[in-house]
Amino acid sequence: MKKFKIAVFVSGNGSNLQALIDVSKNLDCPYEIELVFSNNPNVYALKRASQNNIPTLTLDHKNFKNRQEFDLSLSNNLKKIDFDLIVLAGFMRILGREFIKTYENKIINLHPSLLPKYPGLNTHEKVLENKDKFHGATVHLVDEGLDTGKIIGFSKFKVEDNDNYDSLLAKTHEIEHKLLPQICSLIASKKIVLHKENILINGKSDQKSKEIIF
Ligand code: GRF
Repeated sequence: MKKFKIAVFVSGNGSNLQALIDVSKNLDCPYEIELVFSNNPNVYALKRASQNNIPTLTLDHKNFKNRQEFDLSLSNNLKKIDFDLIVLAGFMRILGREFIKTYENKIINLHPSLLPKYPGLNTHEKVLENKDKFHGATVHLVDEGLDTGKIIGFSKFKVEDNDNYDSLLAKTHEIEHKLLPQICSLIASKKIVLHKENILINGKSDQKSKEIIF
């Protein structure tokens, strides 16, 4: 049977890509990674892809005049590839309106906070500054805003008195590495159906919690 194909976009170390790769090696995993794309040719995530024989595509954003040109080139390249979902896993470029419209309901992002708290950067610092009791990670549908799309699922942990930046980073990664493959598997097996107005979970709109909690 044809597996659900995902394209993973990365800009850095790619530990979340690695988690997706590791799970994809299980025979019963419902997704496979068709492509790894990066806007930075020098990142370790690309090595992880090559080491696992996953095709890669690199477009260095510094070689483009503006965001529109970068997005257009990316769209043109993606037209040649068959995939069902784009997963932003540490992808540090904002994608433009046109690109997002082209792939409406087909792009998800992993964000290191309990959205809607702390969209954007420096989430661990903000948790420490505000003495938050909980921290976590969220997977959401990508829309035109910054980390504003509909929440698909999240995972959280308690912040301890002795937590610091490094420990929050490590704890967030630990939960992300479970959350992202789980959500991709649920989408691939159609247990989650993405729609910007209404995310269906097991065929039903989850009106009560509006998201899956792991
Ligand atoms: C993750 O914390 C993710 O939430 C954020 O960027 C980080 C990427 O880490 N968007 P890695 O490259 O997967 O190790």
